[in-house]
Amino acid sequence: MQTKVTKAIFPVAGLGTRFLPATKSIPKEIMTLVDRPLIQYAIDEAREAGITEFIFVTSRGKGALEDYFDHAPQLEAELLKKGKTELLELLKNTNMESGTIAYIRQHKALGLGHAVWCARRLIGNEPFAVILPDDVISAEKSCLKQMVDAYQDVGGSMVAAMEVPQDKTCCYGILNIGQQDDNLLAVNGMVEKPAPGYEPSNFAVIGRYILTPNIFMHIENQKFGSGGEIQLTDAIANEVTLGNAVNGLRFEGQRFDCGTKAGFLQATISFALARHDLRDELTAYLNELVSVAKAAQ
Ligand code: UTP
Repeated sequence: MQTKVTKAIFPVAGLGTRFLPATKSIPKEIMTLVDRPLIQYAIDEAREAGITEFIFVTSRGKGALEDYFDHAPQLEAELLKKGKTELLELLKNTNMESGTIAYIRQHKALGLGHAVWCARRLIGNEPFAVILPDDVISAEKSCLKQMVDAYQDVGGSMVAAMEVPQDKTCCYGILNIGQQDDNLLAVNGMVEKPAPGYEPSNFAVIGRYILTPNIFMHIENQKFGSGGEIQLTDAIANEVTLGNAVNGLRFEGQRFDCGTKAGFLQATISFALARHDLRDELTAYLNELVSVAKAAQ
């Protein structure tokens, strides 16, 4: 029986340069897929997986993110007065219990590994999850819940894994894998953004992790890695070197890279098409666009 994973770190201190100029004043995680901010998807996924403590690693300019989690009694009273019960319910579902959220500052954007390390004192000596909100995963059973369930059986550390085309491996942390047991991949090593031709497989790490506090020791002793940043991938690779179990879970679901414009637009369309109130109008519009494009060819 493994220790239950109840804490999750949400590293949101990055600069979000790929969404400039928007991210000059709006945190990337507040940007919305249809009508829900990216961070709400991440929180819902964590809650489904049994997380009860939410730790945000933030930076300058992320105030809107903290405000988002404040309760809105005035707005709630107004909706109640107007009998807008559905909206009221929607709003209430975003409320977080007092004392369950903590914010810690990353003073310099030194990389994802460093951001996770900043939360070490809030984690203490127990396993924890890390969720990158710009990786949005649409799945029947949420990706983190799939991981927590698998972790209950095998323990150790775990990363979400997904096959990517060969020519895209240079954009990800890539797994060197050993034995495969159904969806579980034994990890023999990891390399961040391998040069083309040097990728150990085409299994990429996606932004969901279950880690042990060992990781903080690795990060502490670590040098700057790929891109001049302190990489979480390097720290997990050290865990493998020490002989501690690390597994990749090939999760079921569709992943959208909402850290890129193309991925964000694809997610927006996909989530909108899944909505009863938007599907018909949007489908008609998309069909019209396609026929206009075809006619112009
Ligand atoms: P990204 O690599 O997407 O970087 O970080 P970014 O700054 O958010 O965006 P770009 O590349 O400039 O457009 C992946 C995740 O790690 C967090 C980010 O906030 C994001 O959730 N991160 C990254 C930190 O918290 N601190 C860092 O120093 C770097």
